Amino acid sequence: MARLDPHSYTDNSQPLTRRLDLALDVDFAAQVLRGRVTLDFGGPVSGRLDLDTKGLAIRGATTERGTAVPFSLGAEEPILGSCLRLDLPAETRCVTIAYETARDAVALQWLAPEQTEGRRHPFLFSQCQPIHARTMLPCQDSARVRTSYRAEVTIPEALAAVMSAGPVGVRPGQRAGSRTWLFEMPQPIPSYLLALAVGDLESRDLSPRSRVWAEPATVVKAAWEFEGVEEMIARAESLFGPYLWDRYDMLVLPPSFPYGGMENPRMTFLTPTLLAGDRSLVDVVAHELGHSWTGNLVTNATMEHFWLNEGFTVWAERRIVEALHGPEETALAWAIGQRALDEAVARFGAGSPVTRLRTEMAGVDPDEVFSSIPYEKGARFVAVLERAVGRERFDGFVRAYIERFRFTSITTEEFLAFLEAQLPGVAAQVGAHHWLYETGIPANAPVFRSEALEGLAALAEGWQAGARPGREESERWSFSELLVYLQRLPRELDEASCRWLDERFGLTRRGNHEILVEWLAIAAGSDYEPVFGRVREVLTRVGRMKYLRPLYTALGRHARTRALARQIFDEAQSGYHTLSRRVVESVLERYDV
Ligand code: BES
Ligand code: ZN
Repeated sequence: MARLDPHSYTDNSQPLTRRLDLALDVDFAAQVLRGRVTLDFGGPVSGRLDLDTKGLAIRGATTERGTAVPFSLGAEEPILGSCLRLDLPAETRCVTIAYETARDAVALQWLAPEQTEGRRHPFLFSQCQPIHARTMLPCQDSARVRTSYRAEVTIPEALAAVMSAGPVGVRPGQRAGSRTWLFEMPQPIPSYLLALAVGDLESRDLSPRSRVWAEPATVVKAAWEFEGVEEMIARAESLFGPYLWDRYDMLVLPPSFPYGGMENPRMTFLTPTLLAGDRSLVDVVAHELGHSWTGNLVTNATMEHFWLNEGFTVWAERRIVEALHGPEETALAWAIGQRALDEAVARFGAGSPVTRLRTEMAGVDPDEVFSSIPYEKGARFVAVLERAVGRERFDGFVRAYIERFRFTSITTEEFLAFLEAQLPGVAAQVGAHHWLYETGIPANAPVFRSEALEGLAALAEGWQAGARPGREESERWSFSELLVYLQRLPRELDEASCRWLDERFGLTRRGNHEILVEWLAIAAGSDYEPVFGRVREVLTRVGRMKYLRPLYTALGRHARTRALARQIFDEAQSGYHTLSRRVVESVLERYDV
């Protein structure tokens, strides 16, 4: 008997689920999912089966022959939830569990009509990564376990449903005014990639294998923003091998979605803050698409190896961006990532265990230690390997890696063994052990140079001495150049400087949220009153944690803005996702009085 994952009750001496069959009724009035899940073991099994659950009400369990299965629900542990222990009779092939989700299921966000663009219909979306699938269904909620799945989802007839699966039809539902949407996911996926969204949704085709879904009011804008997706898929295929998931569709969610994007297979979930109107934020799509290889094909075995998912994918994302937009643009992306990395290392401390790539996570809540470190330190480690062997050999290695481990979940140690077999001596040469198992950022971290970057850094450094960009020069800047410049300005400026910047760049009225939030963080941190209204607007509308953390942190600098932050949070928190609310609470707790 051994547990396979510090975040799961899954036991490797017990049968593994091969396939899931879900039948869910989406009850918007009660804000619960009600239904059943069938776990198929692909052959006869028996004995004890431990499943992960959190907040679920279990109504009963039966085998495929209708025999009742004895079960007990353990006490709720704070991170893991409750173990659902089943005692499977001999020769059980499938067990069906009838259940209901809790109103506060972390994986599910239920939106009132006013929280949507159209303001007429409610909305539901799921976010199972890292360990929240157990609040949506009883399952072996570890990335080590892969299952194919099938689902039927009954929803009000005015709405549409999408899942991380292929749609296979719609039929009238059993309740009046309902319809049942059918889905089939033939490729085996870990539970954290299970996904569902329900709302007033429309779609637009972008290519024969890709379409975008969004609310009717945003779908045209979304189709324009992501028009280039087919070219992106083609570039990614030439780098990493064939796209094995059939379709690549995208869903643009309401603004409370807590992430920028989520790589749900066949249906990437995206924040609407990417709709900048100038296609400048599509690197997030490159990232989620990149996960189709690194993450969804080759998956981290547990959250202790999360860098294998995210570090590799940031590296992949930048290779896609480079293929599309060239090395100068990519150097700026690395520089923007460097800021995020520096900020995260400073927040936790360079000696903190969370700065390791390979982490130990027993008793640790993965949402609490989420940061840019596995992303940007991980990507730098991959880039160090790439530089050590040269691009051509490394690209061959990456393709072999994906080929070898596709549809499996692996550990850092398995990665290292494969690296040693394919590229002997390279791990030692770059100090892989240090990169993976030690804290902080190694001295041989790659440096990404570019002329534009150096110019921008010098200009920003001269700010206090009076250096300012000329009007013509700054009008030629791309979005990334402006962002890199803003990121290098002092965090606190006097009123005249704030006014000058806003006039020169029209920052407060920007729709591009990367620029807008970077600016608002400077201005709010400078106690600059003219932006307070816009800060309030962003913080009450947008739930993306990447924006909430820096804005609420900046508001913590002055007494007046601390009061403002608390007031905004009081008003906005009921619209935040549970995870977003927790992040803001942790920022507010650290405020001085
Ligand atoms: N898989 C992540 C999001 C995630 C990670 C959700 C861990 C829950 C737990 C996704 O691929 C991601 O990294 N999104 C980034 C985009 C970015 C790095 C371009 C985000 O949301 O900002
Ligand atoms: Zn990612």
